[in-house]
Amino acid sequence: MQPLRLLALTAILQGSSVLGAECSGSFDAITAKDFTAKLDPGWNLGNTLDATPDEGSWNNAPVEESTLDYAKSAGFKSVRLPVTWTHHFTSESPDWTVDSEWLQRVSDVVDMITSRDLYTLVNVHHDSWEWADVTQSDANQTMIEEKFYRLWYQIGTKLACTSSLVAFESINEPPCETAEDGAKVNRFNEIFLKAINDAGGFNPQRVVNLVGGGSDSEKTSQWFELPANITNPYAIQFHFYSPYDFIFSAWGETIWGSDADKAEIETTLDLIRGNFTDVPLVLGEYDASPTNTEPAARWKYHEHLVRTAAKYDISTILWDNGLDHLDRTSGTWRDPTSISIITTSESNSLPDSTEDASATSQWSSAYIFLKVGDEVTDQKLPYLFNGNTLTSISDEKGTALAADAYAVSSDAITFSSTYLSTLDTTNPGILATLTLEFSAGASPTLQIVQWDTPSLSSTSAAASSVSGSDLSIPITWKGLSKPAAVKALTSSGTYLFDDWTQYLGPLQQARATYNNQWNWDEENVILTSAAIDAVVAAGEDTVFTFEFYPRVDESNAVNFTLTV
Ligand SMILES: *[C@@H]1O[C@H](CO)[C@@H](O)[C@H](O)[C@H]1NC(C)=O
Ligand SMILES: *[C@@H]1O[C@H](CO)[C@@H](O)[C@H](O)[C@H]1NC(C)=O
Ligand SMILES: *[C@@H]1O[C@H](CO)[C@@H](O)[C@H](O)[C@H]1NC(C)=O
Ligand SMILES: *[C@@H]1O[C@H](CO)[C@@H](O)[C@H](O)[C@H]1NC(C)=O
Repeated sequence: MQPLRLLALTAILQGSSVLGAECSGSFDAITAKDFTAKLDPGWNLGNTLDATPDEGSWNNAPVEESTLDYAKSAGFKSVRLPVTWTHHFTSESPDWTVDSEWLQRVSDVVDMITSRDLYTLVNVHHDSWEWADVTQSDANQTMIEEKFYRLWYQIGTKLACTSSLVAFESINEPPCETAEDGAKVNRFNEIFLKAINDAGGFNPQRVVNLVGGGSDSEKTSQWFELPANITNPYAIQFHFYSPYDFIFSAWGETIWGSDADKAEIETTLDLIRGNFTDVPLVLGEYDASPTNTEPAARWKYHEHLVRTAAKYDISTILWDNGLDHLDRTSGTWRDPTSISIITTSESNSLPDSTEDASATSQWSSAYIFLKVGDEVTDQKLPYLFNGNTLTSISDEKGTALAADAYAVSSDAITFSSTYLSTLDTTNPGILATLTLEFSAGASPTLQIVQWDTPSLSSTSAAASSVSGSDLSIPITWKGLSKPAAVKALTSSGTYLFDDWTQYLGPLQQARATYNNQWNWDEENVILTSAAIDAVVAAGEDTVFTFEFYPRVDESNAVNFTLTV
């Protein structure tokens, strides 16, 4: 990094023309179009420098050099660096001084990224709702604008001499409900540009990402206006977490991939591209997390999203909060198949899975499910080869399966009972994790799961005695160690939540929402305090039915009753 000399250190008044930082060396200028193309595919260092109050406060330790090596070796070309500044101001109006140690830390992490020749986008992250929320009725617009300018002036000064691998993104997901809010978001973009240009250095040539309301594609299309006099090369960034129910495991939605599902992605990307025909576009956050989504559905989703984005010339940056994809401690990717789908541009072979919203059961070719006690027979898995041929299947040790272990047809792989019978079936659970290699593209995993219905250590509790906190119910897993969905019906047959789900398919009716109402850990299924409160409010005994994969109704589900 080039040494930085400051010509002007005193408090800078907004609107005044000042001399900014001067850098030695030169800046290898890049167009926004090239920057955007080269950052693809990108990865987000989420829940880290954006955590509040400080780095390390959420589920990740402070970032280490190795984290960036893992991202680079997985094939990512950029690391978006979300940063929350709220808790790092050391003075108030009018200076809004940012703690110099924090600025140094951000600068050091930027160096860790760029020293690996990775592109980066530095932003102002949760500040958007912590102090820069223009939708609040008591928002002091003068104060917000003053603080926002001062913040970006200081970031711009600190990072003024960084190379052209570094771009700035004005603000993350600014709250925005109306056209008037949209105009205030446009003001953020203007102030941001003024501040970084006033800060000087290489900033006047630096690529920037501008945003619209909520970093949402529709609000951006509706209300975004390009700042007058913009001279920086710019791209527009937006985010996409849709469909909500699949991404967030709401209302029992564990299926993705119908024509309508695919059309929704296509339409969203087509419309934003249609609104910004000549502007480089960055899809700065998207994710179907391995934590809570079904693998075959998730792989189809990632494949379709990145391919459709590429078709519309939109670069993508995967969200990762540290629990989603990269285990930063061990350096392993929790779902390597998704990562290779995202980082390859080759055609991928993928397991087939239920795509029908009216299905009454859900099977997935990401697994072979063997039921405890059933005779082991040949297992046929529908597979979408997409023009590739299967070249090998290997086990955890890397040993290739013998030729008679499986047979391949044009649309399926059939595993022989001879092979399946060699597996140790003493206990239910994952018997084997296989890796399938194809002539091109990703190498999906395939797990062989012996399952039986899990059992709970207790089957009821009095809601009043457990209210006020989450209720953990010890479980003995007997297959995959996570629930698929949870149904909640009161004793009179009423849906505890969202009775409109009666209009959804049989696997979604009366189902609650992951994280808000239910959860799990290694040893428990969990009803949240919100779910318990809902039972108390309903005043009726309520049966929670925990359902597991494969989703085959009552035969793979257990009940827990909260009484009133
Ligand atoms: C709004 O912020 C400005 C600038 O910080 C300040 O001078 C003014 O007093 C604030 N107004 C109110 C109503 O707090
Ligand atoms: C754009 O430039 C013109 C001419 O220099 C100036 O009058 C105007 O205030 C500028 N607009 C903004 C938003 O900076
Ligand atoms: C621009 O976006 C809006 C909102 O999504 C959409 O209604 C409109 O059709 C889009 N325009 C074009 C030309 O795609
Ligand atoms: C759960 O309880 C409901 C309602 O009492 C019942 O219809 C269903 O069969 C039970 N399911 C299981 C898996 O015990």
